Amino acid sequence: MIQVHDKHFEILISQYEIEQKIKALGQELSQKYASKNPIFLGILNGSFMFAAELFKNVTIEAEICFLRVQSYTETASTGQVKQLLGLTESIENKDVVILEDIVDTGITMEQILMNLNAKNPRSIAIATLLFKPKALQKPITVDYFCFEIEPKFVIGYGLDYNGLGRNLADIYVLKESL
Ligand code: IMP
Ligand code: MG
Repeated sequence: MIQVHDKHFEILISQYEIEQKIKALGQELSQKYASKNPIFLGILNGSFMFAAELFKNVTIEAEICFLRVQSYTETASTGQVKQLLGLTESIENKDVVILEDIVDTGITMEQILMNLNAKNPRSIAIATLLFKPKALQKPITVDYFCFEIEPKFVIGYGLDYNGLGRNLADIYVLKESL
């Protein structure tokens, strides 16, 4: 068990299991996107570790770029994500693979899709390290995921709790009772 800020977490998925799944996903994407020269778009901050590990396992010609979603937390009630920052590459007529750390309600991903679709890519697919299908509120299709998990709060492997925990090599879940 570990403590981050005021909360206790226990291990859910080991680094070994995570990297095995990511490796398999890298191989699958390398086959599906062979000769397509896809562009991978990592969503910061949470996806940096997943994106790095996945990209090492992509064996075809591919580009990678990282985006930040700017959300206005003062209007948190709307859950609105206003815009994407950092997309310097054109994605017009390109095959895009979005890399996310986690799809929870899907609100963030729906907004990202709206923004990217306006830029006329040839195709867009979603690849996420973690997927909480029971928490999903939006009609989005998660094309690739490494792990489906229960709708509980997790940290590690890029995911944080109030800024900490991203450097944990394993994924941990919030301990409900002590
Ligand atoms: P969504 O819009 O509800 O799908 O959530 C998107 C974002 O919320 C993710 O990209 C994460 O940054 C964050 N998030 C959702 N669930 C968790 C979690 O269990 N741990 C840490 N961050 C999370
Ligand atoms: Mg995120």
